[in-house]
Amino acid sequence: MDGARRPSLLFLLLVLQPGGSGRAEAGAMELSRILGDSVTFPLGIPAEQVTAATWTVNTTRSIVTVAAGNPPTVIVLDPSYEGRLRVPESNSLQITSLRMEDTGTYSAQIRTATGIIHRPFPLRVYKPVPEPTVLCDSVTCVNETCNYNLSCRVRDGGEHVTYSWTHTAGGAVVPNESIHHISQSPRDAHLAVTCTAQNPASNSSTTASAKDLCAAPTAAPASSLSYCRVKGIVLLLVLGALSAGIIAVHVLPGRERRRD
Ligand SMILES: *[C@@H]1O[C@H](CO)[C@@H](O)[C@H](O)[C@H]1NC(C)=O
Ligand SMILES: *[C@@H]1O[C@H](CO)[C@@H](O)[C@H](O)[C@H]1NC(C)=O
Ligand SMILES: *[C@@H]1O[C@H](CO)[C@@H](O)[C@H](O)[C@H]1NC(C)=O
Ligand SMILES: *[C@@H]1O[C@H](CO)[C@@H](O)[C@H](O)[C@H]1NC(C)=O
Ligand SMILES: *[C@@H]1O[C@H](CO)[C@@H](O)[C@H](O)[C@H]1NC(C)=O
Repeated sequence: MDGARRPSLLFLLLVLQPGGSGRAEAGAMELSRILGDSVTFPLGIPAEQVTAATWTVNTTRSIVTVAAGNPPTVIVLDPSYEGRLRVPESNSLQITSLRMEDTGTYSAQIRTATGIIHRPFPLRVYKPVPEPTVLCDSVTCVNETCNYNLSCRVRDGGEHVTYSWTHTAGGAVVPNESIHHISQSPRDAHLAVTCTAQNPASNSSTTASAKDLCAAPTAAPASSLSYCRVKGIVLLLVLGALSAGIIAVHVLPGRERRRD
């Protein structure tokens, strides 16, 4: 028993040979982590049964071998993981300071007294979801009850972003939709809506009032109204100048003639 526990270099080299039976472990749950976080792959095998484990990523790239012991012997084979690998208890493997390029299927070849066991650990690293922007797409009001179409988007959000909405006053949740329709009477106008954008590893929310968001377009008629006022004033001035001209040309010469 003691002999089997002691790691030997010959044994590690044997484990490093690509095994023929490592392909069939599809279907393992993908682990999702945020950039910079860490992930732990648990072997799920009692520590005393494990003599060594060799870890590869994407089936061909060997990254580390771990030989059982106290402490275990860890040999990092891939320089891009140097300083980022730990072996917590029970022969699991931890990768810290995750990078985007760490995404891949990690696979352990576990040497036990009875043979070799393969364990796959698909991992996907995500960027944290940025804060979403809520915009007013349209608003129609009838009898002071307004129907708002709001949209929610993250700029540069990356993959697998889904959206959900909640109201401050109720739990209405619309999964996976970036567009939201709400109807509000004046009584509810103060209510805020929250859009949450999330990917499998993180989420981010923005809260806004539909009434405030959709208030901006009403500024347009107001400014065109004042434009009309300016136009009116200019028209008045032009009319004034014109009538002054008419008086100067027709009325004044007439007076002078009368003086003759
Ligand atoms: C694994 O392969 C995927 C694409 O097939 C690649 O994006 C990823 O960077 C690879 N991971 C590693 C750690 O080499
Ligand atoms: C809101 O969007 C829906 C579907 O996109 C559309 O049928 C409806 O007319 C829109 N409402 C308004 C007020 O624009
Ligand atoms: C708006 O209000 C008026 C008077 O209260 C009512 O007669 C009319 O049916 C209402 N219109 C709608 C679309 O609800
Ligand atoms: C959720 O969003 C994704 C990507 O936009 C889409 O492919 C999928 O059909 C949506 N699912 C539902 C239930 O709307
Ligand atoms: C958002 O992330 C927090 C942790 O950051 C989590 O507690 C919460 O459940 C997440 N919310 C959703 C809707 O996924």
